[in-house]
Amino acid sequence: MTARHRIIIDTDPGQDDAVAILLALGSPEIEVLGITAVAGNVPLRLTEKNARKVCELAGKPETRVYAGAIRPMVRPLVTAEQVHGKTGLDGPDLPEPVMPLQKQHAVDFIVETLMAEEAGTVTLCPLGPLTNIALALVREPRIAARIQRIVLMGGGFFEGGNTTPAAEFNIYVDPHAADVVFRSGVPIVMMPLDVTHKALTSSARIAAFRKLDTRPALATAEMLEFFERFDETKYGTDGGPLHDPCVIAYLLQPDLFRGRDCNVSVEIASELTMGMTVIDWWGVTKRPKNAMVMRDIDADGFFALLVERIGNL
Ligand code: RIB
Ligand code: CA
Repeated sequence: MTARHRIIIDTDPGQDDAVAILLALGSPEIEVLGITAVAGNVPLRLTEKNARKVCELAGKPETRVYAGAIRPMVRPLVTAEQVHGKTGLDGPDLPEPVMPLQKQHAVDFIVETLMAEEAGTVTLCPLGPLTNIALALVREPRIAARIQRIVLMGGGFFEGGNTTPAAEFNIYVDPHAADVVFRSGVPIVMMPLDVTHKALTSSARIAAFRKLDTRPALATAEMLEFFERFDETKYGTDGGPLHDPCVIAYLLQPDLFRGRDCNVSVEIASELTMGMTVIDWWGVTKRPKNAMVMRDIDADGFFALLVERIGNL
């Protein structure tokens, strides 16, 4: 079957990133051209290793994994070990990876792939801070016209922030990179906290992975049980939001989501609201509509898709 989606996943695993990678690798409609790691949830030396661990967990050691930016473009790196654990992938005990890390820098891989592949045929799927994507756009501006679209997890508006009252983690860590991406003119589909906070894990939903009784599914259950505890305590909910897999699920079943075209602008001046994504949901400005912003999800359909596809591995 010819892949319907040829993608590059840019990621900072991170348990939710890991589930997104498993979803992509378990879906025949998707060809993963490469996985590029970025500093975010944990430092780069761990995010690139975790990406390789997940590829091996999926039984796909031939996947090409690249290391990218070791820190944001301007601001110092902020990490999230309190959410993801000191390894960034706490929960399951995954073996040290054997598959190689590619020697080429992730930013060069992104540029080279977009310049070599037919224009408009490659989708970028950022799941962490947008540093690699912004650096690629600055390094080779011609790629902007060649990217089919960027489907990203990041930002928030009605939900506020999860790192400061105003900012979501991926955007907060590298607001300048996010500003470059949202001003790039590339078609963007945005999965902000407003939609990911409606995709909550729960004991029943995690049990469905356990029931598959395969190594990838059991590891998924262990990752989610670790990952959800921080947000359960913070928000007082049963379960935590499963952010990053929303990006891949959108490629597979876009009808699971509802949203609208809006202007999204990123705060890069005020320390109080640094990294805030100002979403003009009601169209009160004349600013260009630069992103399809998702706000609703069919959560049952989303988790059914996850169980089905991770069950393929
Ligand atoms: O705010 C949630 C986002 O930050 C997710 O991508 C999670 O993995 C972290 O990177
Ligand atoms: Ca992430």
